[in-house]
Amino acid sequence: MTRDAIILTALREAGDSPVSGEDLAQRLGVSRAAVWSHIQELRSLGYEISASPHQGYRLLNTPDLLHADDLLSRLGKTTGIGRDIQVFRETTSTSDVVEKLAADGVAEGAVVFAEAQTRGRGRLGRRWVSPAGKGLWFSMLLRPACRPQETTRLTLAAAVALARAVRAQTGLAPEVKWPNDLLLRGRKFAGILTEMSGEQDRVRHVVLGIGVDVNLVASDFPPDLRRQATSLRVELGRPVLRAELAVAVLRELEAAYQRLQRGDFEALADEWEALCTTLGQELEVVVGERRLKGRAEALDADGSLLLRTRYGRLERVTGGDVVLG
Ligand code: BTN
Repeated sequence: MTRDAIILTALREAGDSPVSGEDLAQRLGVSRAAVWSHIQELRSLGYEISASPHQGYRLLNTPDLLHADDLLSRLGKTTGIGRDIQVFRETTSTSDVVEKLAADGVAEGAVVFAEAQTRGRGRLGRRWVSPAGKGLWFSMLLRPACRPQETTRLTLAAAVALARAVRAQTGLAPEVKWPNDLLLRGRKFAGILTEMSGEQDRVRHVVLGIGVDVNLVASDFPPDLRRQATSLRVELGRPVLRAELAVAVLRELEAAYQRLQRGDFEALADEWEALCTTLGQELEVVVGERRLKGRAEALDADGSLLLRTRYGRLERVTGGDVVLG
């Protein structure tokens, strides 16, 4: 852990009780003056820390800011998702950054957040609007031991994890639209972009990108999206502290990923099906040039959608876009 992360962890653990400069200095192995300059640095970022000469420091308030040390301190030590966290003030796309980490041979579990993305991308070549300080825009590197066809399972696992974290943090009850949209009152507030690199029968790595519209207000969305999109803030009528949500999502993602690694896809799929508004509906799915019409019946073992066409055939849909539903 970095020094700032150690300080924030100690202050958070102490709650309302002050932590002495001496105690922090010992934990960090630095002088009290050096502790003071770290405290000043955290204050300049917006962390409200009281300092009393005889008692020590107390954390009074945290800003709605994504700060790698803060996220690491909240998450605690992990060897899984979030073992390494970077936060960019601005980048093209966090998935581009993670793709580079993958090329450099970085181990799985690294996560990259950005306060803003200038070229955020969604599925099917769409743009993903990512204004500064309003959402969670992040990507992680995974190296699952699975076949390329099975990576849809990761998307479904991420959708379940995201829905769980949002429910726990806000009390809202998200629904899932196959394969990767999270909705509230029928409007999308989050999406998942799973990009895989591999060979015919082997996944080399997966970059899982997640975008959550947390504190956007209606005017933050481009006019053409306003009717279909929403944010947690719009739904709740109050802003949400992004760092808390981010850590809850990372914890749920790690738990869901472990379930997958243990071969426990069935239970995850059941949970996903319970959240899914797509199953049971008459749909039209656009897959490249093809338009398929039918009733969404179930998921198969890889996480693909099984669509019963009006001619009675069962079609397996692995990508594409549900346009009616
Ligand atoms: C979709 O619903 O089409 C998927 C949207 C995924 C957006 C996220 S934001 C973080 C990561 N970086 C990107 O450029 N895209 C994903």
